[in-house]
Amino acid sequence: MAGVMGWPVMHSRSPLMHNYWMEQQGLAGTYVFLEIKPGELAPALRALHPLRFSGCNLTIPHKLDAMTIVDEVDDVAKKIGAISCVVVREDGSLFGTNNDWLGFVGNMKQQQPGWRADAGPVAVIGAGGGGRAVCHALVQQGATEIRLVNRTRQKADAIAAEFGGPIQVLPWEDRHDSLDGVAMAVNVTSQGMVGEPALDLRLDKLSASTLVADIIYTPLETPFLAAARERGNHTVNGLGMLLHQGPPAWKMWFGIEPTVTGELRERMEQSIAGT
Ligand SMILES: NC(=O)c1ccc[n+]([C@@H]2O[C@H](COP(=O)([O-])OP(=O)(O)OC[C@H]3O[C@@H](n4cnc5c(N)ncnc54)[C@H](OP(=O)(O)O)[C@@H]3O)[C@@H](O)[C@H]2O)c1
Repeated sequence: MAGVMGWPVMHSRSPLMHNYWMEQQGLAGTYVFLEIKPGELAPALRALHPLRFSGCNLTIPHKLDAMTIVDEVDDVAKKIGAISCVVVREDGSLFGTNNDWLGFVGNMKQQQPGWRADAGPVAVIGAGGGGRAVCHALVQQGATEIRLVNRTRQKADAIAAEFGGPIQVLPWEDRHDSLDGVAMAVNVTSQGMVGEPALDLRLDKLSASTLVADIIYTPLETPFLAAARERGNHTVNGLGMLLHQGPPAWKMWFGIEPTVTGELRERMEQSIAGT
């Protein structure tokens, strides 16, 4: 058994994805929605062991609060500043990690075979939780130059100070120019998500060969991705980041690493397009 804890949670596509793998792997288990109110996360997480859960995923608003509840937080979750995956150990203790960065890397490698983070400068627009995961992924994958821009500069400065290495912070006003000569541009803001305005970013400095990615998956194609595609750029949406953080969670929960198949991706796309 596993599940996703959130508030609200019924919009989550995680049960569709994990139950696909339950069936595919022939496991007699299920992955459930766990609607947990803010303030009730601690008793909910402690109930996982007596309920015989192997673990759970966390979504809004629990990713930060879990840091002070679980018994051990790994270095990656500390660096990203949030827990996306909890593992229940045999003795009932709780281990927290974050697989979002693995989701980003897995998605890029599947969608763009031969993808390399060090192919050239990378522009990252945004510096929230998703942005921290993407920056960690890019640094881990050997990026040599990351141009980080965020509306609230201090958050980008904090990432650069903590992660070091190739991250250069540019002012928000320079976001349009930050695209000049990049091999890859990634939107990690919430702008362009369903219910949010489009990201305010001019693409005139983008070269035709720049790979353009968004970590948003509702909608599947954000206005940012649509504009890049219309210019002829290759684009990658955020659905695969969600899909590819699943197998590492399974490895920890069940000792199995399922595959992100084309059929699974299609089912998820149909579900998202249908709402
Ligand atoms: N595919 C996946 O698996 C995955 C994983 C994680 C997140 N996501 C998606 O990524 C998006 C961001 O999530 P998050 O967890 O990083 O959120 P978050 O921590 O709340 O960060 C939000 C980011 O958006 C920026 N932003 C918000 N409103 C803005 C505006 N009007 N103009 C410019 N920038 C603005 C914020 O800038 P400030 O710092 O200035 O507020 C910040 O950089 C969401 O759509 C989420 O669904 C996807």
